[in-house]
Amino acid sequence: LAGTDVILVSNREPYVHTTQTDGIRCEIPAGGLVSALEPIARGCGGTWIAHGSGSADRETVDAHDRIQVPPGNPGYTLRRVWITPEEEKGYYVGFANESLWPLCHNAFVRPVFRAADWCHYRAVNARFADAVKQEARTDSPIVIVQDYHFALLPRMIRERLPNATIVSFWHIPWPNAEVFGICPHAAEVLDGMLGSDIIGFQVPLFRINFIDCVERTLESRINPEDCSVRYGSKLSRVRTYPISIAWPPDPTGQEMPATLSARKAMGAKSGAKLILAVGRLDYTKGIPEFLSAFEELLVLHPEWRGNIHLFYVAAPSRGEVASYRSLHKQCLRLSEAINDRFGTPDYTPLLFMDRHVDRDDLRHLYREADICVVPSLHDGMNLVAKEFVAERRDEQGVLILSRFAGATQEMPEALAVNPFDISKLAATLKSALEMPPDEQAARMRRMRETVRSKNIYRWAGRLLEDAVHFRRRNQLLK
Ligand code: G6P
Repeated sequence: LAGTDVILVSNREPYVHTTQTDGIRCEIPAGGLVSALEPIARGCGGTWIAHGSGSADRETVDAHDRIQVPPGNPGYTLRRVWITPEEEKGYYVGFANESLWPLCHNAFVRPVFRAADWCHYRAVNARFADAVKQEARTDSPIVIVQDYHFALLPRMIRERLPNATIVSFWHIPWPNAEVFGICPHAAEVLDGMLGSDIIGFQVPLFRINFIDCVERTLESRINPEDCSVRYGSKLSRVRTYPISIAWPPDPTGQEMPATLSARKAMGAKSGAKLILAVGRLDYTKGIPEFLSAFEELLVLHPEWRGNIHLFYVAAPSRGEVASYRSLHKQCLRLSEAINDRFGTPDYTPLLFMDRHVDRDDLRHLYREADICVVPSLHDGMNLVAKEFVAERRDEQGVLILSRFAGATQEMPEALAVNPFDISKLAATLKSALEMPPDEQAARMRRMRETVRSKNIYRWAGRLLEDAVHFRRRNQLLK
């Protein structure tokens, strides 16, 4: 790919500059998308276009709104796109997070569709299309568009750069046709995405759902053999590329000591078991469900009281959306109730950490835990499951993983759960607590092999290889 014009587009930027009392600080935002794409951006150089969202972002860019990143060791260009607070409300809070997010997650949070949000969503997608055109160094760049913030962008790029090779990757689930059909802009969303040469999903079910939606909504021809859609004169391939993580390097001994220990924070006595859960504070992540299961275990099995601790890292997210704020309150209430009921002066059953925890501390927590739980109600992939496994060089630890997270398809050795079934969830937690070390090792070994080989570089490699292949084919057909 050396010399290829590669442009990545996402809403969230990899580096955010904010003004603090002691000057400007640069932070890496939470969430799977940024951690997955950063190694790719470093690997291919090129340009990453994203929404400039930090209070000091404008002060750190050049006259063309560009900045070289990562700070201190630049490897690629970050081009920031500015949007007004009103546009952010309509495009990001509104259509992306109050319409598409619940729509795609079957989350039983009713999607809201406002005409004004849709207008902002279209306008912001058009602004990004202009930025792609400005950043393209040739008339045929490879553009990789990320996620549900940009369903309309592929078509808009196609209008501006007809020879571009456009790949869009949808990180979240794609719902079935009946659910998708309630979206008042269903046809426009599909039309926008079909501006892509390749449309990528996490798992086969989402690809099947997408093709079914196209078939029922648009005049198109589907070829089930190679999963392609012909719509007008344009051919789009629909593929699956399960996203992953970069396999962590072996420790060198030079690492900084961890600053956060769950066991210390909860005063765990030696031999007590530590259960860890990590995720954004989001109603799709099954947080109240798991808190209830933990409570049920303590009710039904008093022998575990005093001997287990739950450390819940719930990174605050999308506080602008009302349903996220009420979820936050609900989780705090539940956590308090559990601690009131089972806590003693020497025993803290649960620590609900509603703040961002940095990457090094998280890695330490993964190594400290006996059990890691991912109770998502619905999840495109879920990278926490993979990060936990990657950190367990000791081949110990049990992963409890929702059947409704994409990751479950690659990791059958995890204990699969239906997080809606609280009693079963509690029973699975009990089996995990009792799992003998040799069984843990057998399961962990296989999961580690999977994550090591199916890593983020393989994901990016397959995606870019298909893009290059498609580009060659188009050039030959011209
Ligand atoms: C999910 C989405 C990403 C998003 C991340 C964090 O992983 O698929 O596109 O960036 O959540 O959410 P936020 O709204 O803070 O960007």
